Amino acid sequence: MKIDELKKKMLEELEHVDDLKKLNDLRVKYLGKKGLITELNSEIKNVPNEEKKVFGQRVNEVRTLFQSSYDEIKNRLEEEALNKKLASEAIDISLPSTKVTMGAPNILEKLIEEVEEVFMSMGYDVVDGPEIEEDKYNFEMLNIPKGHPARDAQDTFYLEGEEILLRSQTSPVQVRTMLKGKGEAPVRVICPGKTYRRDDDDATHSHQFMQIEGLLVDKDISLSDLKGTIDVIVKKLFGEEVETRFRPSYYQFTEPSVEVDISCFNCKGKGCNICKHTGWITIAGAGVVHPNVLRMSGYDPEVWSGFAFGFGAERMAMLKYDINDLRVFYNTDLREVSNFDRGELENND
Ligand code: DAH
Repeated sequence: MKIDELKKKMLEELEHVDDLKKLNDLRVKYLGKKGLITELNSEIKNVPNEEKKVFGQRVNEVRTLFQSSYDEIKNRLEEEALNKKLASEAIDISLPSTKVTMGAPNILEKLIEEVEEVFMSMGYDVVDGPEIEEDKYNFEMLNIPKGHPARDAQDTFYLEGEEILLRSQTSPVQVRTMLKGKGEAPVRVICPGKTYRRDDDDATHSHQFMQIEGLLVDKDISLSDLKGTIDVIVKKLFGEEVETRFRPSYYQFTEPSVEVDISCFNCKGKGCNICKHTGWITIAGAGVVHPNVLRMSGYDPEVWSGFAFGFGAERMAMLKYDINDLRVFYNTDLREVSNFDRGELENND
């Protein structure tokens, strides 16, 4: 009688079980060490001998019944749980997709790449140099000895004593390139890179800015080669109709030295805000490499000559893209920066 009751209760409980945890609790309740069926089994010793066999068989039946029901329910519950999980993870392919905004190169980077391409097409290599530089390369070997007043114009960040600094110009790369060239020519390189000066930041100044340095060393190089080269790059970047003009200037490392102006592509020389009503805009310093510089870097000025130039990259980008505040290039506010993106793509698939 006791067995029948237990069986009835057991089946009832199994019927109502609706999760795996509860099912396991039932397994413990019935088949565990102190489970109800286990306990029933141990009662066999109190059963009269002649009934022992039947009693044992019936307990076994209940145990088997429990086990088979348990297995069946477990399978069913596991399958249900899996289906539920799959349903919750299903991807609704009919939902509209989220808009993905692609990044784009910084506009200054784009300009530099354009300049690099033009020079590479003319056989120049693009080279690199350290931003933490030695005084020797940044000044001395460019014909600017210690104590020379030309140093004052470049408010330099010194890092260690008087010897290590943040380069104030990309011109030291000229020296490094020639030293590597070991007196052999032709040398044709450009070096775009960051430079540093102790300037207060405003719309036209930045303590960190970019220059694009250029150097060519070969036989019989003159100012007219420089002019021709600059003319090509200017026309490629700003348009065929734009003219170049060289004004005499002074740099320690070039002789003669010039300042490169381009005719204002905006007003075509009539005078506007961009060119400050002069019709011309200055974009670079340049000149014929000073014999002292050639000599110090291992090139005999009796044999070799060269020209060099240094473009202000921000200046060129500001002109080309009509930007009136240099700080925009170093801005990390995406709302502003993305105004210059040309590569914004939407994922409308
Ligand atoms: N380094 C100069 C500056 O920062 C620019 C410059 C002038 C570079 C003449 C040159 C050059 O290579 O020949 O103002």
